[in-house]
Amino acid sequence: MIAGRIIIIDSDERNNNLMKIILANRGYDVTISFNGKQGVDTFGINKFDIVYLAMNVRDMDPLYIIREFKKRDLDVVIIALIPVDNVHLIQEALSQGVYDYATKPPKPEEIYFTTKRAIIQRRYLLNNRFAIKSLDERNISLQKQNIMLAKRIGESTRNLTQLYDDLRETYMRTIKALAQAIDARDHYTHSHSENVTRYSDIIASEMNLDTQKREEITDACQLHDLGKIGVHDYILVKPGKLTPEEFEEVKLHALKGAQILEPLAFLEGVIRIVKQHHERYDGKGYPFGLKGEQIDLGARIMAVTDTYDAMTSARPYRTTPLSKKETIEEIKKGSGAQFDPEVVKVFLKVVDRF
Ligand SMILES: [Fe+2]
Ligand SMILES: [Fe+2]
Repeated sequence: MIAGRIIIIDSDERNNNLMKIILANRGYDVTISFNGKQGVDTFGINKFDIVYLAMNVRDMDPLYIIREFKKRDLDVVIIALIPVDNVHLIQEALSQGVYDYATKPPKPEEIYFTTKRAIIQRRYLLNNRFAIKSLDERNISLQKQNIMLAKRIGESTRNLTQLYDDLRETYMRTIKALAQAIDARDHYTHSHSENVTRYSDIIASEMNLDTQKREEITDACQLHDLGKIGVHDYILVKPGKLTPEEFEEVKLHALKGAQILEPLAFLEGVIRIVKQHHERYDGKGYPFGLKGEQIDLGARIMAVTDTYDAMTSARPYRTTPLSKKETIEEIKKGSGAQFDPEVVKVFLKVVDRF
């Protein structure tokens, strides 16, 4: 097995022969070039591990030769051959990327050890180069995998989001259908929830509420009387005055509606409004007796619109509805008591659009 491939570039024939004997004896494959040009040409054709370059070659600047070699093989190990009387060349050579130097005329032991060290350095450099190359390759493949993964995660997330939105949509449609069925159960309140929804959104839009809050309010309006599903039919359609017990049963619809919706966590804000839609600004409402700003703004708006629609529609206990004018007067009277005065102010501004 060859211990390493070496090229010697020196015009000194005696020196070359001596070096060749020393190195060939140690198992190295040695090529001789007598000048710089021949050395550069040979280096272009063959691969060498080590270059012994005499710093006193005459036909070419040795620094140019070093640069040419490094250009072709960045990991080649160059050893400068320096005449004993020209030591100032050592520093210049080392600064140009030369690995080591040996003095001329060659001493066998020095050449042997210098070459051995140079071969170890060469292997180290080649191994390093190989490791960097495979790391780079691995990095590129990891980057590709990352991009693929990110793409797949993006797709899955989009699919999941779509699925979730569809599910939400289906839930909402089902519940709204249920609420409409409850509305329709009693012809007196037919389209009551729809009216309350429309009126409330006119007020919410006039108050410049953001889209999310407006949606929350309209959803709550559509569902607000959902809890009436648990109120007996005979109470809902009773023409006369309700007994206190019957009234207590009606009052439960706010909490019952919220209970039905409770498992749907994404409806948190809607549930709050449904629960509070019979609270009064002065704290005399139900089910909790909340006061003023303790009541969600959506529920404060709905207090006005729910009453407005109830008064302007026929009811079992009042077959002739109040006129628009009379209803507005009633709501004005309730400002600051049953209703939030701010909401009443906006109501008065937009009621013509109802
Ligand atoms: Fe209600
Ligand atoms: Fe209602």
